[in-house]
Amino acid sequence: MTSVRAEAERRRTFAIISHPDAGKTTLTEKLLLYSGAIAEAGAVRARSGRQRDVTSDWMEMERQRGISITSTVLQFPHDGLLFNLLDTPGHRDFSEDTYRVLSAVDAAVIVLDGARGIEAQTLKLFQVAQARGIPLLTFVNKLDRPALSPLALIDDIEDQLGLRATPVTWPVGNGPDFAGVVDRRDRTLWRFERTARGSSIGDERASALEGSDAGSRVAQELDLLDAVEANHDSKRFMAGESTPVFFGSALWNFGVRLLLDAIAEMAPAPQSKSQSRGDPRPIDGELSGFVFKMQANLDARHRDHIAFMRVCSGRFERGMTLVNHRTGKSFSTKYAHQVFGNERQTVDVAHPGDVVGLVNATDLRIGDSLSTSGDAEFPPIPTFAPEHFRIARNLDTARYKQFRKGVAQLDQEGVIQALHTYSGGEREPILAAVGELQFEVALHRLQNEFGAQPQFDPAPYTLARRTDSAGREALSGRRGVEVASRSDGTVLALFSNQSWLDAAVREHPSITLDSIIGL
Ligand code: G4P
Repeated sequence: MTSVRAEAERRRTFAIISHPDAGKTTLTEKLLLYSGAIAEAGAVRARSGRQRDVTSDWMEMERQRGISITSTVLQFPHDGLLFNLLDTPGHRDFSEDTYRVLSAVDAAVIVLDGARGIEAQTLKLFQVAQARGIPLLTFVNKLDRPALSPLALIDDIEDQLGLRATPVTWPVGNGPDFAGVVDRRDRTLWRFERTARGSSIGDERASALEGSDAGSRVAQELDLLDAVEANHDSKRFMAGESTPVFFGSALWNFGVRLLLDAIAEMAPAPQSKSQSRGDPRPIDGELSGFVFKMQANLDARHRDHIAFMRVCSGRFERGMTLVNHRTGKSFSTKYAHQVFGNERQTVDVAHPGDVVGLVNATDLRIGDSLSTSGDAEFPPIPTFAPEHFRIARNLDTARYKQFRKGVAQLDQEGVIQALHTYSGGEREPILAAVGELQFEVALHRLQNEFGAQPQFDPAPYTLARRTDSAGREALSGRRGVEVASRSDGTVLALFSNQSWLDAAVREHPSITLDSIIGL
């Protein structure tokens, strides 16, 4: 058996983040093509739409909406390494899960649309990734279409993300004139040719840059990059201060292999993870990991829960007993799965960087630290400032108990955040979320799993800030503000809009009003 250290060393655990439509799905698909994990383009997208895979209400919802709700951890080999690509689920319908995934990866790839540069969602995800200190690689996509000039894109990355951009490849033209990319490391030109759309791999042909027409056009830009020393610096990259940039077209499968090779070469292998208290645990020590995502009722016939654990150290073996640090309780891992889209496979062994789905571990919560001894304690996963709010009402007094229990459970699982105001109390909690989809999931589960009869009404807030008792005092009763508390005791000020927040800051400059990220 290979050592845990060697297994960790050959893993790369990462996520792809992007604004909708920038090309995340297409890129994922092409990465999988290289590894042979899928045989044809279109398979990733097709999975969410296949009728025969509809085995639960979840999948019914997924099918109707054509989006992926179920978590997908794609594991694929390439070039002697093993890649774990953690999908950021509910991509279009932003949710807290999208953020939480970033606590379980060692690196991330930002995909930008070459014609649009940094977009709203890219920026949000970037901020979360940066708060986690994750190294980021950038892939500028859709160069086969008219795009912004590469220098403008580099400026955009530097200005908006505050990252030093270090292009590894550089595009030669774009749109109809797109001729390929130059690898700055050896000045090789990789020529772009429009072949059958994305259907073949390995169709990039190398030739010397010198002497080609395209080459002379970009020579100046390359000299400029050299002059300003925009070169990859491993230390700064690992510290989240610089990002290597790649250009290409996911649709045409162009520039993708260079990116994949770079992930292999530049992205870190799983490292020992720091503890809340004390030193990091050795990576080859006892099994330890933390829960970063919960999924309930993937399969309506079984009504089960899956807790997704990122393995941080040691070797996971199915059947081993783990102890939850928070509760001190132990449980058996007889049912451990790897989830690939809708398909599950039993996992017998896993290593640092891998993700294991623990079935029916109902006592687990997001952020729980698990280990064989129960000693491991990883820092909590931050919660995030919600941007969407609903008032939850119970329509059937005879089922109030179910309603209350359901709301508490969904809050605990992190499906939504339940907030209580002085006036609404527990009877009419305010539900808060990062994305609208979270409400649909909550409503569905309250009705179908808990047998409650809830109604979600619009709530007049658009912003939340963390405050404290002084803030509660100062803001209570003000127009445009509502003070509420979370089950963990956090006090939140909810504002109808930005101007009420600005007014509160103006009038009470000394009170705490934090955007919650990073708590
Ligand atoms: P997302 O997951 O980030 O939301 O993006 P996705 O991959 O679904 O891509 C969004 C659209 O952009 C798709 O077109 C996709 O084909 C297209 N696209 C992705 N990469 C490239 C590229 O390199 N060049 C060009 N020209 N287009 C690209 P669609 O019309 O929405 O879907 P489809 O009909 O192609 O499936």
